[in-house]
Order: sequence, then C-alpha cells, then structure tokens
Amino acid sequence: MHTGKRMAGGFDPAFFESALDAFTANVAVIDESGEILAVNDAWVQFLDLNDVKAVDHAIGCNYIGFCDRLGTPGGDAVAAGLRALLAGGSGPFRHEYVMPLDAGPRWVKLSAVRVGRLDRPFLIVAHEDISIQRRAELGLREATARLLLAEDAERRRIARELHDSTAQHLAGAKLMLRRLDARDPASTSAVRDEVSGLLSNALDEIRSFAYLLHPPALEHLGLAAAIRQFATGFSRRADVAVTIDIPDDFPRLSHATEIALYRVVQEALANVHSHSGSQQALVRLRIAGEMVLLAVRDFGSGLPPRRGGASGVGLEGMRLRLEFLKGHLTLRNAEPGLALEAWVPFLPEGED
Ligand SMILES: Nc1ncnc2c1ncn2[C@@H]1O[C@H](COP(=O)(O)OP(=O)(O)OP(=O)(O)O)[C@@H](O)[C@H]1O
Ligand SMILES: [Mg+2]
Repeated sequence: MHTGKRMAGGFDPAFFESALDAFTANVAVIDESGEILAVNDAWVQFLDLNDVKAVDHAIGCNYIGFCDRLGTPGGDAVAAGLRALLAGGSGPFRHEYVMPLDAGPRWVKLSAVRVGRLDRPFLIVAHEDISIQRRAELGLREATARLLLAEDAERRRIARELHDSTAQHLAGAKLMLRRLDARDPASTSAVRDEVSGLLSNALDEIRSFAYLLHPPALEHLGLAAAIRQFATGFSRRADVAVTIDIPDDFPRLSHATEIALYRVVQEALANVHSHSGSQQALVRLRIAGEMVLLAVRDFGSGLPPRRGGASGVGLEGMRLRLEFLKGHLTLRNAEPGLALEAWVPFLPEGED
C-alpha cells in the first residue's frame, strides 16, 4: 500500500491506485468541481520543497479554487485551462511558471490531462521541475548577449582605427596631391614619395583589417595552416618569435571550432605583444582524447596580480566563444609568463 497517498471519501481509489504508483512525477487527481481526490508522495514532497502549505493542495481542497484565489495572471490561466479541459476541451493543458523561492527562482511546468467518462471527467495534474533546463537556456542567452557585446566592441575598435588611422593616411594623400606643381619637378617627386608612403600605409591597414575580419586561409587551408600563416605575419609585425607545434596530420575541424580557436590564437598573441613583454611565444595544437587543446604560452610578465576594474574584451571574448562550443579557457601564470589553454570538444569537419 502506498503510504503517502491519500484518498477522499466517495472516490473509487482502485482505479487510480496503480496509475499513481507508476508515476515518479508528482501527480494529483482532480474531479470535475476542481476538488483534489488523490495525490501521490511526490506531490506532497513537491509542496514541501516549494513552501506551499499543504492545506491548499491536499486532498479535499479545491485546486481550481486555489488557482483562482492566487489572483495572478498565471493562476487565472491555470484555472481557465483546467476548466476548459473539464468542459471537454482537447488536452493536454500545459503551463509554465516561475516560483520566486528564497533559494532562487524555480521553473515549473504544469501539465494536465482529462481521463474518465465524458459525464464524469477527472483531471490528472502533474508538475515538473524544469529549472535545470531553464537555467541552462538563460545562461546560454546571457553568454550570447555578452558575445554580441564583445563583437560590437571589436567592431567599434576597427571603426575607430579606420577613422583615426586609415582615413587620415588617405586624407593626407589627398592634401599632398593638391600641392602638386607641374612646374617644379623637385616638389613633384617629393609629393609623389609622400603620397606613395601614405597610400602604402592605408593599403597595409586595410589588408590587415580584411584579414582580421575574415581570414581567407582558414576556410581554404584549415586551422593549422591559418595559424601558421597568421603567426608568420604576427612575428614580423610584432617582433615576437612564435614557435608553432602542430602535428602535420592535424585534421580539419568543424567550421565553428576552427573559427573559435583561430580567434583565440589571434587574441592571445595580440596580448603577448601588448602585455607580456615576451619576445617569444609558443602555440601548440593537439587532439587530446575527445577534446582539442590549443595552448599559447609566453615567457613574459604573466597576469598582473589583481585585474579589477575595467578590463578589455579579449579574454572575455575567448571565454565566451569557447563556452558557446561547450569548451573552456584556463589561464595560469607559468613563471615566467602566461600559459593559456583553450579546450573544446573534438568535432570533425562538417559536423557543425
Ligand atoms: N600574455 C599576457 N601577459 C600578461 N598579461 C596579460 C596577458 N594577456 C592578458 N593579460 C592581462 O589581462 C588583461 C585583460 O586582457 P584582455 O585581452 O581581456 O584585454 P586587453 O588586451 O587589455 O584589451 P583588448 O583585448 O580588449 O584590446 C590585460 O589588460 C592584461 O593586463
Ligand atoms: Mg587583449
């Protein structure tokens, strides 16, 4: 006999007894007036967990009346939904709500179905705690929002550079051209040299922006080759010697994974250049079981002891990209320098 189950008088318990026993979910049986006829253990435990007074939800009380008395849009919606079911509406009826508990919000899904004869219907009402799914969805939504903000900041950075630097080179070149004087060959050649220098600067910057925005090698040659190519250019521009340690037969990965890891290399090396003071960096890429490991190490100052206040978007952007792919980022001062590790699940090409 089910110890936690209670039965109201006048109700044939035999019919529902086995059904109730079969449910691990919490369940109440309600008659056509809304009165609770039977509940199982899980229902009682659910009430306890949610700080609901049993008197409102126990045998003999009117569940639909309880929903009415809540006086909330959610309560009204449930009462209306259950009445519609009892009146013959096609089920099941489902409703989600949030309970603001002391320990934090609890998301609950209520489902109800009609059973029994048309002239004497019963409802089976169940609640399911869906907090874990909802929290995960919320976390993902927040992470997406942060990633979009980080991308926006990146775009603003590029726009600022284009405006403050590239556009200035071009404006300078235009000004110089106005000074051209065909009668003075010496000035003509000086202007030409200066214009040529300004245009080269502008061209270099535009090329590197185009490359930053979408590295062509990544799509055509894959992550390993794109990292090698980027590192070569970076070494030249930043005067940091980069050692690449990637197996020759390193496979192609899913597009999203390749982009994320490539961005991590770009940002990590930019940080080596801007913050570490190191003249050397090491980039290592490996398949480690079910995961891909990208490690970037430098031999400089390491992270400053406290990084409070406004920091950049680089590390945060890396972390978000990796979390988006169910991976993670670790940072460790390696004395000397910083050891950064990006871990993502191994997903081969085509499995995005
Ligand atoms: N390789 C490194 N060595 C030493 N310190 C580092 C290194 N990488 C990051 N840091 C520290 O971490 C901070 C945050 O880095 P992050 O990339 O998030 O921002 P940023 O580089 O300052 O700005 P942004 O990347 O937005 O241009 C840096 O300001 C720096 O103090
Ligand atoms: Mg940075």
